[in-house]
Amino acid sequence: MIAEALQSSNLFSLRDKTALITGGSSGIGLMLARGLLINGARVIISSRKAENCERALAELLTYGDVSAVICDVTNESQRGDLVSAVAERFSDLDILINNAGANWGARFEDYPDEGFAKVLDTNLNSVFSLTRDLVPALRQNLKDDEPARIINIGSMDGIHVPVVQRTSTVAYSASKAALHHMTKILAVELGPLGITVNAVAPGFFASKMTDYVLEHYRKDIEDDCPMGRIGRSEEIVGVVTYLASRAGAYTNGTVIPVDGGTSVSKGKREWM
Ligand SMILES: NC(=O)c1ccc[n+]([C@@H]2O[C@H](COP(=O)([O-])OP(=O)(O)OC[C@H]3O[C@@H](n4cnc5c(N)ncnc54)[C@H](OP(=O)(O)O)[C@@H]3O)[C@@H](O)[C@H]2O)c1
Repeated sequence: MIAEALQSSNLFSLRDKTALITGGSSGIGLMLARGLLINGARVIISSRKAENCERALAELLTYGDVSAVICDVTNESQRGDLVSAVAERFSDLDILINNAGANWGARFEDYPDEGFAKVLDTNLNSVFSLTRDLVPALRQNLKDDEPARIINIGSMDGIHVPVVQRTSTVAYSASKAALHHMTKILAVELGPLGITVNAVAPGFFASKMTDYVLEHYRKDIEDDCPMGRIGRSEEIVGVVTYLASRAGAYTNGTVIPVDGGTSVSKGKREWM
């Protein structure tokens, strides 16, 4: 019995789990959708643009049971529709991955209030609101001593002060640092209800959000990382699968960097 429980195919399995991934139509969210489906979960992805969802679905349907819901997480009524869609599609929800995120690049002197508000609204406020509204669906599924999971996608930029981008990421870094702290607060709040709350703090991964900086500053980014490279899809999927599976059931209130050590390094930074 114990040997069976310890087998990695059981310990890390997501069989019969249901998951919602916000911003699941591209980049890291799409990587996670692939990984969760391949490991047995049923998945809903959501994002603002129908064409992005359709493009992602065309690929994801080859891996398993997946559907998409159009939702701007900063829009209260669309968030309500997403919560209803989750209830209709799944009788309960096992895994919520708050992944949708935004950045706004501008020089500090010119940084607009509008940009600051948009980043905070997307990366922090909407995570709070959606999480609060999905707690009833996550609670319904408490069974066999197996907690439901909330996994917030933070950033190494919420741990250290980023420099390679050259422009101010003040709103982005502040939003992610706040998200990491909110993760810990919610872990204490929701743990007794049978829900664990953790964050993953990625370093650089190839995505729409990082297209520009990777095109212009890739060498600096790689030099800044003790491992000398950006992250690979399986490296973020691995950590999230751990958190979402039986293996991660007793991990609560953590922020796990997946950045090759960048956030604890001063980098080479010869370009400075
Ligand atoms: N890539 C990295 O190196 C990196 C590093 C650290 C942290 N992160 C974090 O990882 C997460 C994913 O980013 P990414 O790099 O994968 O970027 P991405 O490729 O631009 O993906 C962002 C996703 O979020 C969706 N989205 C954006 N705003 C939204 C909103 N208001 N409501 C709903 N969906 C929205 C986008 O689709 P639509 O345009 O269709 O809405 C897209 O599916 C973000 O939280 C980001 O901060 C990324």
